[in-house]
Amino acid sequence: MAKPKTQFVCQNCGTVHNRWAGKCDGCGEWNTIVEEDPMGGIGSGPGKVPKKGRAVALTTLSGETEEAPRIHTGISELDRATGGGFVRGSAVLIGGDPGIGKSTLLMQAAAALSRRGHRIIYVSGEEAVAQVRLRAQRLDAANTEVLLAAETNVEDILATISEGKRPDLVIIDSIQTLWSDTADSAPGTVTQVRTGVQAMIRFAKQTGAAMVLVGHVTKEGQIAGPRVVEHMVDAVLYFEGDRGHHYRILRTVKNRFGPTDEIGVFEMSDRGLREVTNPSELFLGERNAKAPGAAVFAGMEGTRPVLVEVQALVAPTSLGTPRRAVVGWDSSRLAMILAVLEAHCGVRLGQHDVYLNVAGGYRISEPAADIAIASALVSSLAGLALPADHVYFGEISLSGAVRPVSQTAQRLKEAEKLGFAGAMLPASSAELPKGGSRWIEIEDLPDLVSRIAGS
Ligand code: TYD
Ligand code: MG
Repeated sequence: MAKPKTQFVCQNCGTVHNRWAGKCDGCGEWNTIVEEDPMGGIGSGPGKVPKKGRAVALTTLSGETEEAPRIHTGISELDRATGGGFVRGSAVLIGGDPGIGKSTLLMQAAAALSRRGHRIIYVSGEEAVAQVRLRAQRLDAANTEVLLAAETNVEDILATISEGKRPDLVIIDSIQTLWSDTADSAPGTVTQVRTGVQAMIRFAKQTGAAMVLVGHVTKEGQIAGPRVVEHMVDAVLYFEGDRGHHYRILRTVKNRFGPTDEIGVFEMSDRGLREVTNPSELFLGERNAKAPGAAVFAGMEGTRPVLVEVQALVAPTSLGTPRRAVVGWDSSRLAMILAVLEAHCGVRLGQHDVYLNVAGGYRISEPAADIAIASALVSSLAGLALPADHVYFGEISLSGAVRPVSQTAQRLKEAEKLGFAGAMLPASSAELPKGGSRWIEIEDLPDLVSRIAGS
């Protein structure tokens, strides 16, 4: 039998190399490549008796595992983002910039769960027990049965959380501080983080406890440490927001047990995070409806409608190359809309600076915002305010055509609920509720421009 060749695997991104190298071609990290047996030491080889597993017919499982057993926090915005609560035996990674409020959110969740009779252990590697307790006091969580531990060594943590009655949920804050005796690299390295996370996931699977792992995010928007951590866990949530604003969004980017496009919305106050059950009201709060250049976009976040104002300022430039500045939207998408306006509608913006802002520090990712953006731009250029009681949505193609978007009915329902009387939306939108003349159906971009600026 041919001797199985060994392979060299990057411990950060998992890329397989034929030879050892100092730097991984896959992710660019240094000193992450380690020699591994391709079979992982399983099965083949003399002296090894393969262990017997058990295959189960899919049909026999029905009834046994209908719903993943979940732990509800009672904080509905958090439960919504996790897909209905934390799943027992699973691991969730919560990422976010330092200082965004991850520890605050999890302390509040821990307190809420503890009040519901669950056994919760909060392991802090970044703050001392006294500091965590101080925060808990501020959050009205100090009088709960949450167990605190300040530890960073993986073996110590395992000993702590294995002691006594089995916990229902364990919080590790954060994975960047984990280090293990078994991994011989320095604390904070990818190997250490990976080893630590692996041990925590194994604990969750063995005991049925839900494991919540906190991870910091780098400037590039990735969870610092090994990317593979994202692949190892069952769900990844990002806690995002703008430091200058109070609201925070918990966004699901991966979920093996639920939908991935849900968000939970919170507001940071001096007594912790408060749930925002109607985000549209928050984003429309400081609206100046009479100003030219403002349009309300009826957007969707997963199954949830979110109304938000987009603001444009188009002004003659004093520079050789006009400025294009965007906050809260994709700048290449803005360039595309400007090009389509110029090519198909004769709207010349080559001598104008263009500034675009999404109110409240919110970030729009839907192409359905095209119509709202174009309307705001034309409104600002023409100096004419848009009707204050209208919402805008629809995608624009390079040919200037306006394409229908999904979930029209939900968008309009939310708009009506908040007192908007009309909408500019794509022609031939499906599921258009009866509303007569209040829905203005837009054929193409020239049609939109002439309706706003007159012809
Ligand atoms: P924290 O949860 O420590 O952030 P992370 O764990 O993501 O690094 O939150 C830190 C910020 O939140 C800090 O700037 C203070 C603010 N904060 C409040 O505004 N109100 C509060 O009740 C708490 C506990 C924190
Ligand atoms: Mg923290």
